[in-house]
Amino acid sequence: MQTEVVAAELESSVSRALELLDAGQVVALPTETVYGLAADALNPEAVARIFEAKERPLFDPLIVHLPGQKALAQVSETETKIVPRLTQAFWPGPLTIVLRKRAAIPDIVTAGLETVAVRMSANPIFTKIVAKFGRPIAAPSANRFGQISPTQASHVLEELGGRVPLILDGGPTQYGIESTIVRIVNGSIEILRSGPVTAERLADFAPIIERKSTSASIAPGQLPSHYAPRAKLVVVDALESFSGPSGKRIAALSFRGSTALHRYRTTAQLSERGDLREAAANLFQKLRELDRQNPDLIVAELVPEQGIGAAINERLRRAAG
Ligand code: TXA
Ligand code: MG
Repeated sequence: MQTEVVAAELESSVSRALELLDAGQVVALPTETVYGLAADALNPEAVARIFEAKERPLFDPLIVHLPGQKALAQVSETETKIVPRLTQAFWPGPLTIVLRKRAAIPDIVTAGLETVAVRMSANPIFTKIVAKFGRPIAAPSANRFGQISPTQASHVLEELGGRVPLILDGGPTQYGIESTIVRIVNGSIEILRSGPVTAERLADFAPIIERKSTSASIAPGQLPSHYAPRAKLVVVDALESFSGPSGKRIAALSFRGSTALHRYRTTAQLSERGDLREAAANLFQKLRELDRQNPDLIVAELVPEQGIGAAINERLRRAAG
């Protein structure tokens, strides 16, 4: 299959994407978090093409992206008053909410679960396409299963070139890490995946439960080995205090630069000015860059655990397995 990469802002690209979605095909689209691989959420065969292109196991459910707030009631039951408060505060935006699903959502989308993960993207291209399409769109991150999420169209091409017909290039994504995923448990907000909407901000709406269990039934895709670069990766508190195995080619990823960087052949830093948002936006790109050099080991420095830093550290720890 030939993969076409087209500029997202062109009207012709939007029409082409809509044609493919209507025909039950998949299309890679930018969201404000990472690029997604989109298909008609109400068409099981179209959704099956997502799993096929990504080589994603069928037990790992997808996120459903809504065309508007009103569509929420068609796909799920909102259950508690917390949900409309959250959607009002954070939608469109990088917050995914797991809710009891309605029959309209095919089982393949939710991997047979009774719940469905829903969000509304704030990316203007995505918003335009899903609004014109007028139906919910299922879209996981547009990478092969277990790999790092794509934050640029070129990453999608590396991951899925030859497997998808169309990639809309909307430039680098704004946040660079995937949406926060929550569910409501007895009036509290449980964070299943940390992300751009932080625990601090969610705490204004209900008490927060940080995730304790790694039970597969809660978030089937939250496998510890997710976001893995090819090279082995270790995380450290500070590069200065790390001494790696000798004779190995080690690549270093630092937060804002480090006096220890000269010890490494390949290095990258997440944010020279120490800005956590910039660091999040750069994270997957920098990991890809280091991985491309084929090092024996990548050593990555943890960032301050505040704000979106918690989500960055979660990804780094996961990449370390
Ligand atoms: O920012 C994002 O959320 C991106 C963009 C493209 O929207 N999407 C994304 O999708 O990261 P994906 O499939 O790569 O990750 C979704 C995660 C998976 O770990 C999946 O297991 C979990 O959400 N998930 C989906 N439905 C669920 C459900 N009903 N209950 C619990 N976890 C669920
Ligand atoms: Mg993913």
